[in-house]
Amino acid sequence: VFVMKLLVILLFLGLLSGCRGNSSYSLTPQLLLVSFDGFRADYLQNYDFPHLQNFIKEGVLVEHVTNVFITKTFPNHYSIVTGLYEESHGIVANSMYDEVTKKHFSETNDKDPFWWDGAVPIWVTNQLQENRSSAAAMWPGTDVPIHNTTPSYFMNYSSSVPFEERLNNVTEWLSSSNPPVTFATLYWEEPDASGHRYGPEDKGNMSRVLKEIDGLVGDLVQRLKVLGLWENLNVIITSDHGMTQCSENRLIHLDSCLDHSNYTVIDLTPVAAILPKINVTEVYDKLKHCSPHMTVYLKEEIPDRFHYQHNDRIQPIILVADEGWTIVLNKSSLKLGDHGYDNSLPTMHPFLAAHGPAFRRGYKQSTMNTVDIYPMMCHILGLKPHPNNGTFSHTKCLLVDQWCINLPEVIGIVVSALLLLTLLTGLMIFMQNRTPASRPFSRLQLQEDDDDPLIG
Ligand SMILES: *[C@@H]1O[C@H](CO)[C@@H](O)[C@H](O)[C@H]1NC(C)=O
Ligand SMILES: *[C@@H]1O[C@H](CO)[C@@H](O)[C@H](O)[C@H]1NC(C)=O
Ligand SMILES: *[C@@H]1O[C@H](CO)[C@@H](O)[C@H](O)[C@H]1NC(C)=O
Ligand SMILES: *[C@@H]1O[C@H](CO)[C@@H](O)[C@H](O)[C@H]1NC(C)=O
Ligand SMILES: *[C@@H]1O[C@H](CO)[C@@H](O)[C@H](O)[C@H]1NC(C)=O
Ligand SMILES: *[C@@H]1O[C@H](CO)[C@@H](O)[C@H](O)[C@H]1NC(C)=O
Ligand SMILES: *[C@@H]1O[C@H](CO)[C@@H](O)[C@H](O)[C@H]1NC(C)=O
Ligand SMILES: *[C@@H]1O[C@H](CO)[C@@H](O)[C@H](O)[C@H]1NC(C)=O
Ligand SMILES: *[C@@H]1O[C@H](CO)[C@@H](O)[C@H](O)[C@H]1NC(C)=O
Ligand SMILES: [Zn+2]
Repeated sequence: VFVMKLLVILLFLGLLSGCRGNSSYSLTPQLLLVSFDGFRADYLQNYDFPHLQNFIKEGVLVEHVTNVFITKTFPNHYSIVTGLYEESHGIVANSMYDEVTKKHFSETNDKDPFWWDGAVPIWVTNQLQENRSSAAAMWPGTDVPIHNTTPSYFMNYSSSVPFEERLNNVTEWLSSSNPPVTFATLYWEEPDASGHRYGPEDKGNMSRVLKEIDGLVGDLVQRLKVLGLWENLNVIITSDHGMTQCSENRLIHLDSCLDHSNYTVIDLTPVAAILPKINVTEVYDKLKHCSPHMTVYLKEEIPDRFHYQHNDRIQPIILVADEGWTIVLNKSSLKLGDHGYDNSLPTMHPFLAAHGPAFRRGYKQSTMNTVDIYPMMCHILGLKPHPNNGTFSHTKCLLVDQWCINLPEVIGIVVSALLLLTLLTGLMIFMQNRTPASRPFSRLQLQEDDDDPLIG
């Protein structure tokens, strides 16, 4: 009886801590996915964000999101909406070349569905559901007919459309469309552009830029409140990658190692994609000893942890610069900040914050992966996810309708339960052993105290 009682109490405590909140929100769930490009995770610790911190206080925060290699814009944005590594979704760089079709891809020449059709982004899956539509105030791929489908509402990409216009139009679509928009994206080019221009260590300029970003978050929340969307809309604010400081003192000159006529550069820095025109081994040998500040890989040798190998668009040789180093040809065209480096570097990581009926309130966790965002979004929208590389359980603690206990809690509960059980068993054995031997004493005690406190 006692053991049963104990278990019931423990279970009850677990339930209380695991499922506080209201899991049955009645309306069709709606989700707005926002990206501020190049928002490095530790900006949140090192600069003031009053509006964003208010958003987080009523929602959840993941301090570091481990993104995918290479840590560039197009590849990571496509991983967020597909849950796939780059080798599996096919957007393996911002600049690509396909040897079979001789096609080229770049940030300004990205509209051929050929490049995108290797995966199904969430806005397409959402759109195929009855009575639902998707909308996009920009996001890489949203102005391309992927699997013959664009979002019902979208904008052609143009960096000159102001944030306010993107915000106004996307919230208009979210609040008054039929069938209702249940998934929408909102993309903004900052703080990436300024991070490249000034470098993340330019505290003066970066604090000005980041203050503007925080103002935009304030505008977003304000707009949602005015339209009556704030309480029922789920909002995720995240980013594709971070930013690290570069310097003219950290340049790797390729032309000093190898004649430019021997190879084609498909992508240059900080991860160079090299297509040799002559014997691959010869080019590899020359590049291998070019600089101590970059690692040279034959495609077959690329480490497994990058998940960056099994795709025809990955070139025969890639060069990975060390953090803060820049690969150049003969001239020194330099950005003061850059990204694209090894995805295990903390400076390459973005953050994730979320608010809405699907999310817990005031919950913080240290990490998750970029590829985990997709299964979480599918869960919120009630969509069946396509096969992907994410892990739903990594995001369970963020969600109000999930049973969530973290490892330290589990260990604590198990250890205390075991301790209690041991104590009890010991006590019971002790009592049993002494009962026959000391009858008078036992009777005496019973007389003194009518109710045995142990059997309640
Ligand atoms: C749960 O949500 C419903 C619908 O939004 C609301 O009417 C109800 O009061 C909520 N219950 C709790 C316990 O918050
Ligand atoms: C779609 O909307 C129509 C009209 O409002 C409704 O009759 C139908 O049941 C809805 N379908 C689903 C799957 O919700
Ligand atoms: C996007 O651009 C294409 C080609 O320029 C044009 O046909 C299309 O109408 C535009 N779509 C939107 C939503 O502006
Ligand atoms: C936003 O909406 C306004 C009003 O409908 C429209 O005139 C404008 O073209 C839209 N902006 C974009 C970038 O689509
Ligand atoms: C911002 O950057 C500009 C140009 O790079 C520089 O001249 C200026 O001093 C910087 N401002 C601050 C506040 O650091
Ligand atoms: C490769 O570079 C060498 C000089 O290093 C040059 O002599 C040779 O012609 C080049 N080969 C090709 C195919 O361009
Ligand atoms: C490529 O060059 C290496 C060494 O320079 C040589 O051993 C190898 O046979 C060459 N392979 C081909 C296919 O020419
Ligand atoms: C630098 O490289 C470019 C090709 O990227 C070439 O056209 C140019 O002649 C080179 N300049 C020098 C000084 O080697
Ligand atoms: C990622 O997911 C895709 C689709 O399920 C699968 O084909 C691929 O093998 C996965 N990659 C890894 C490294 O597990
Ligand atoms: Zn970016």
